[in-house]
Amino acid sequence: MKSNSTYIITIDGTSGSGKTTISKLLAKKLNFTLLDSGKLYRSAGYAFLQSKNKFTDRRSVKELVSKIDIRSNNDNEYEIFYENKKIDHLLYSEKVGESASIVSKIPDIRQRMFKIQQSCVKGQGLIANGRDMGTEVFPEANLKLYISASLEIRAKRRLEELRKKGDDVNYDSVYKSLKKRDESDMNRTLSPLKVPDNAEIIDTSELKPDAIVDKILKMYTITEN
Ligand code: DC
Repeated sequence: MKSNSTYIITIDGTSGSGKTTISKLLAKKLNFTLLDSGKLYRSAGYAFLQSKNKFTDRRSVKELVSKIDIRSNNDNEYEIFYENKKIDHLLYSEKVGESASIVSKIPDIRQRMFKIQQSCVKGQGLIANGRDMGTEVFPEANLKLYISASLEIRAKRRLEELRKKGDDVNYDSVYKSLKKRDESDMNRTLSPLKVPDNAEIIDTSELKPDAIVDKILKMYTITEN
């Protein structure tokens, strides 16, 4: 959706490519609101795990996802609520990530997420990150980016992130899990991960986040003028 007054930047890309870090830095620099769509799909994965198999027919799927909502906080970030409780801190385990990868293939879920995502187009600017932001959700965004890095680098980064949180994981399992996620995200029929038309491709394997953000700010300045 193109908005005349809201400047939209989409950041698509693979898991662990640095999308989230870069989106946060960029949103702060530009004072734009940040929508992390992966977090939103993770909340559907979380709902699925909570439901313990009650997620089988269309009605129960719809009912469960209707309990998911988002609200922007004072830091200009959308936070996720499930049954009116903030759940952002519960969404970053590998278990929830894998569950999100599975439930994100369900059309009713994508439809609900699409509506929530579209409702974020307000204010002066929106940074929307995730797998189909530039391809499906905001195809007419003002600036589209596709962020990637080698699988080895992404696995190392994810391992560090999980260990910092105190998770007991090893490199091989994180590598395999990311590889599986890549295959699933790229080969699914519904909204597969791909480079959006007219997107700028950025490889983050050898670049520090600040250098990437500077690069993007230059692109933003060019499209703005
Ligand atoms: O970016 P992430 O690892 O937090 O995303 C978790 C899962 O959510 C991912 O495996 C696929 C799904 N997802 C999606 O289908 N569409 C999006 N726009 C974002 C995430």
